[in-house]
Amino acid sequence: TPVAPFSHPAKRISADLFGVFFEDLSYAADGGLYAELIQNRSFEYSASDRKGWNSLTNWEYTTEGFGYGTISVETSQPINANNPHYVVLNIDDPGQNGVGITNLGYDGIRLKKGERYNFSAYINQISSKAIPVEVKLCGRKGEVYSVFKFNTSGRGWRKYTSSMSVKRSTDSAVLTLVARQKSKLALDEISLFPQETFKNEANGLRADLAQTIADLKPKFVRFPGGCLVHGDGVNNIYRWKNTIGPVENRIQQRNIWSYHQSVGLGFYEYFRFCEDIGAKPLPVIAAGVSCQNSGGTWVIGSTGQKALPFTEMKSYIQDILDLIEYANGPVTSTWGAKRAAAGHPKPFHLQYIGIGNEDKQTDAFRSRFKMIYDELRAKHPEITIVGTVGPSPNGEDYNLGWDFANRLAVPVVDEHFYETPRWFLDNNNRYDNYSRARSHVYIGEYASQGTKLINALSEAAFMTSLERNGDVVKMASYAPLLANLNHTSWNPNLIYFNNDTLVRTANYYVQQLFSVNEGDTYIPNIISFERDQSAKDSTLASSCVRDSKTGDVILKIVNAGPTAAVAKVNLSLLNVTGDLIVSKILTGNPNDQNSIDHPAVVIPISTRVKLTDLDSFLSPAYSLTVIRFSAK
Ligand code: AHR
Repeated sequence: TPVAPFSHPAKRISADLFGVFFEDLSYAADGGLYAELIQNRSFEYSASDRKGWNSLTNWEYTTEGFGYGTISVETSQPINANNPHYVVLNIDDPGQNGVGITNLGYDGIRLKKGERYNFSAYINQISSKAIPVEVKLCGRKGEVYSVFKFNTSGRGWRKYTSSMSVKRSTDSAVLTLVARQKSKLALDEISLFPQETFKNEANGLRADLAQTIADLKPKFVRFPGGCLVHGDGVNNIYRWKNTIGPVENRIQQRNIWSYHQSVGLGFYEYFRFCEDIGAKPLPVIAAGVSCQNSGGTWVIGSTGQKALPFTEMKSYIQDILDLIEYANGPVTSTWGAKRAAAGHPKPFHLQYIGIGNEDKQTDAFRSRFKMIYDELRAKHPEITIVGTVGPSPNGEDYNLGWDFANRLAVPVVDEHFYETPRWFLDNNNRYDNYSRARSHVYIGEYASQGTKLINALSEAAFMTSLERNGDVVKMASYAPLLANLNHTSWNPNLIYFNNDTLVRTANYYVQQLFSVNEGDTYIPNIISFERDQSAKDSTLASSCVRDSKTGDVILKIVNAGPTAAVAKVNLSLLNVTGDLIVSKILTGNPNDQNSIDHPAVVIPISTRVKLTDLDSFLSPAYSLTVIRFSAK
């Protein structure tokens, strides 16, 4: 049916087409987006996270000025049973400068001159008398960036806080806490946050990383991961209830990517982040089985059990129902009240839930998926359930997964493409003839195996096809989103960072150019390439969309080949008003890429385009051009 005001067939595009997928992989959460600067703050690291790790990993026993004493890790009187380990300092002689512990941060602590940092710690004064304590931010050679002193104020666990100001910048500070008299005290949950977090949320996010994600204007955020959600055995399944409430009471666990999850960035923080950036939340819940039904055979410390016993499925499903209540329920409901208690009485407007990720099509998966699916549909028809298929479009779990999803009429199915640039160019027609009567598509993870301009352009070409098929492809998100350069266990990623700064890849700019230039209507037959008809050149791609909110028409013209091409824009089919054109181009050599030292090799630049140029528009070799103008 024609969509007014155009007199030719146009297609509605999903309002949620381009979003982001956040996975706690490559230190994306702890040591990344989560702004905590103290690593292993609650002494819960263990050998099951990574071989050789323990409660004191990343901590050093500190004795300054010839003091001596002992340090032990204990569990008999924790702050909370969920956070069992803490450190006990038994100081026989504080020497000149005290005895205590030092935290090395995530590869050092980055401090910025003039900024403030919020310190907090739980201390149990075991001695009868108040204990003088000193907290210092210093360098490895003794340079002091900030210091403050206080006395403990009684026995039992108490939280001590202070704001510390810093007069010099460094990227390699450590935090030292020492007691300065003969005494015994217990320490736990030692924390340091920059005062400035994203939107100044408490327990917040690193401002530059969060803002860079926000700048993508994502329509949704899928979280907290793919494989991470399922874990490598049923005991490692991500349980959202473990990740809410006071951070010191949350249940931490091993990260499937061989490190630790403090879950300080938990479901409450994810929901808040979505709200802060105007994106819809898309939490993913394991389908009651472990990652690809792996049973943990490939990661240390696993239980080996692949699927939850059926006897546990009822309470497992109840947890998912409770998640919906936590997000959307009234404050008078059990879980809505917990949301309100956390500081958010208003609902989070949860609309989507993902069940499963890249699951193998075993009976174990299918039976549990169906149990969850049936129950959610019956109790919450308003929630759109996103199902899953196997990891590769060439694998059998992909086709079997689609058959299964179509049989159940799962509304949306998540499929993943980690393929070559050539694959993305050759698959431009993938969804053109896709049945509109069956399950719709969410491309939850895709990337063309590199961060060069050619990779980004192949993704851009593919994204024009997603706009063209935005009636059936409901959502899409590049993956993975973030990687800490010192702890990268997956490549490529959209954004790389270290403690100091970050780099947006060429792929990031493609995502951004599409996302901030989305439309709600696809208009066909507007752009044709002169070379196109004869050569059927898959390096050329284009789309034309209209955004009814602004009235703008947006053209995207991709040339992923080595020679310039002429694009002909049929303006007579559009009711163009005025002649103001905004246009951006991303171009360069195909192997150009951004790096932390050279972050601006490939960046979009504004270009001058006139309406009259569009009759015969020269699209440069290796380029994405986005052209925006108003039309009625
Ligand atoms: O994005 C990295 C991983 O790739 C995800 O965890 C998983 O879903 C996929 O295999």
